Amino acid sequence: MRLPRRIEIEISDFDFKGYGMATWKGTLIYVINGIPGEKVRCHLVNWRKRIYVAEEILEQSKYRIKPPCPFAQKCGCDWQHISYDAQLLFKEKFVEKAFFGIEEATYNKIIPAVKQWNYRGKTELAFSRLDGKELKLGFRERGKFWKVIDLEECLIQEEGMNKLMREVKEFVREKDYSAWNPWRHKGFLRYLVLRHSTIGEHMMNIITSSEGQFPLKELHDSFSTKPESSFWSVSDSVADVAFGEIKNKIGKDYIVEKTLGYEFVILPYSFYQTNPYQAPKLYELVRKYAEEGGKLAIDYYAGSAVISIVCSDLFEKIVAIEAEEYSVNAAKINLEKNQVKNVEIMHAEVEDTKGKFSNVDVAFVDPPRAGLSKHAMKALISAEPKRIVYVSCNVVSMARDIRILRMHGYKLIEITPIDMLPQTHHLELVGLLEKK
Ligand SMILES: C[S@@+](CC[C@H](N)C(=O)[O-])C[C@H]1O[C@@H](n2cnc3c(N)ncnc32)[C@H](O)[C@@H]1O
Repeated sequence: MRLPRRIEIEISDFDFKGYGMATWKGTLIYVINGIPGEKVRCHLVNWRKRIYVAEEILEQSKYRIKPPCPFAQKCGCDWQHISYDAQLLFKEKFVEKAFFGIEEATYNKIIPAVKQWNYRGKTELAFSRLDGKELKLGFRERGKFWKVIDLEECLIQEEGMNKLMREVKEFVREKDYSAWNPWRHKGFLRYLVLRHSTIGEHMMNIITSSEGQFPLKELHDSFSTKPESSFWSVSDSVADVAFGEIKNKIGKDYIVEKTLGYEFVILPYSFYQTNPYQAPKLYELVRKYAEEGGKLAIDYYAGSAVISIVCSDLFEKIVAIEAEEYSVNAAKINLEKNQVKNVEIMHAEVEDTKGKFSNVDVAFVDPPRAGLSKHAMKALISAEPKRIVYVSCNVVSMARDIRILRMHGYKLIEITPIDMLPQTHHLELVGLLEKK
């Protein structure tokens, strides 16, 4: 189908990736910057994926606002042009759509974010310096892996992280370093990973290639407010992942976060919720669904064992399963710090635990975006948990997995959506299932 370069069209709905959807001569197209109910003039930006961008709004939605960030929709914030109340409304519609036909459950209203701006506790920023031009530091432009948006400020990143980002950029510009070229796989600076905890601690981790030595102490000493932890890591991998081998460290091994009265450590590569301000609300919800307690719980995809620890008083024993070494290490420190004795850490892939557990009262399941793989699902079903508390950051994979679990004798009792990522289409959900 040959699509026109420019069209005027009416947006009918949102798709699960946050794009406006419209139909042109029977073909579904996706429109960035379009809100359902609007008539827009848009131009084609990706023929293969049928993606357009609305350049002029001909009939405007009552939910449209002027995005405060000039780069909105170019990096991560794809919904800044929608008022916050309407963002919540559209997220609730995602739940309705994804769980259509599952009528036995109670669907609760979405829990709004306690902070709509400056909430991110982790960002992975990329360096770029193509054609010998000025060094850039910021997020990759959506759909353009080679292009970095040079940022002075990110409105959803915590303020202290913004300051660190600006000061790192000034330092490396003065040094006149090269940056990683994504085609040639050469160049020095690769990523800057910033982390922050709600008690006010900061971590910065600069990732370079092995082309040179990074003067970490000089950078750390140059900061106007020094982060609690500074790291230098090295990676020559062609994969575009902000991960490297740690070469040097100044300050503490980890920063500390507090949630529901417990303390958690954040190591350079360990998992912690991206929105630490909203995390207590998420864990309160998980606890509420597990309240009945029991003898044995399994915490699948445990990260640094936060769920296990905040629910440790509800069970005689919890086994926390996690595949990544950094998170396993963080989990072990967390158990010690909080004097929790009834949680056992299992360094394993969920997929390899089939047949290992029985008489499970509650299974906590909090997988990455893709949801449960076929073998992970088999492992979960083999444990025959009486109840499952499913935490998800992807309504589509969660709905798919819940439909499979329903075929294996589970009933969906309740779902509560929670907004962990305001200004974006992303949605977190917690669901409770029970064996019939
Ligand atoms: C969404 S995080 C969940 C973290 C944790 N429940 C929390 O609340 O902090 C998913 C975790 O699953 C881990 N993971 C991913 N694939 C895995 C697998 N196949 N087996 C075990 N853990 C896995 C990741 O390393 C990550 O820590």
